[in-house]
Amino acid sequence: MAKQKTVVDIQKLYTEGTRITVLTAYDYPFARIMDEAGIDMILVGDSLGSTVAGYDTTLPVTMDEMLYHTRYVVRGSSSALIITDMPFMSYQADVRDACINAGRLIKEGGAHAVKIEGGENIADTIAAIVNMDVPVVGHIGLTPQSIHRMGGFKVQGRKDEQARQLLADAKAVEQAGAFALTLEGIPAPLAKEITESISIPTIGIGAGADCSGQVLVIHDILGLCEKYSPKFVKRYADVTEIIRTSVDSYIRDVRDGSFPGEEHSFK
Ligand code: KIV
Repeated sequence: MAKQKTVVDIQKLYTEGTRITVLTAYDYPFARIMDEAGIDMILVGDSLGSTVAGYDTTLPVTMDEMLYHTRYVVRGSSSALIITDMPFMSYQADVRDACINAGRLIKEGGAHAVKIEGGENIADTIAAIVNMDVPVVGHIGLTPQSIHRMGGFKVQGRKDEQARQLLADAKAVEQAGAFALTLEGIPAPLAKEITESISIPTIGIGAGADCSGQVLVIHDILGLCEKYSPKFVKRYADVTEIIRTSVDSYIRDVRDGSFPGEEHSFK
């Protein structure tokens, strides 16, 4: 069995120049498969709000839901580092609440680290959580929990002022003690500049090829999200089609009596 990865191993990959691989998972079987395949980190993303629960945004996702999914991902993995998203309103209002909720994701969920959206505005909260020895991954750019401020899922940092703010955010998150930083939905040249201006790994999603690693939502790469497919996703399979044809075949077999056969029956 492969050794459990820690933040020290992630730091080592970064200093060696090895690109860091991250995918989301929300349950035991997916976590087991990607862990066995050798993924470096698994993110229990609050994207489960849309991929698993069918909401349009991540905003309704609760701490209880994050804990529930984190436990099953942790049970399915033995080597990947497990990061869990702090859901909307579990950290924004109060630093004390944020510390307690981060602690719950580690203690009750079994995660190894938490991810928090925001930059300079949330740096004090990141520092307080890191100070409790809970490793933190930052997340700036297109931050889905800020959808109402951003006016939709839009690429961020196209204007000079926004780009300057994102650079300042990245430095604030690093300064606060985060061990990695997610860059979502920002122009590739800006992601490169941010990556070169800080000394923690950047994990890109829709942020070009020059980040220290990449993260994607597993449902997107498997073709399980039919509603919306962002430009930055590479689809590796069409699992929706596999499920659809399997279910069609099952319905046909049951209806025409070819299932169950003798081989599926007890003598
Ligand atoms: O919730 C999530 O899956 C994420 C990734 C898209 C980075 O935050």
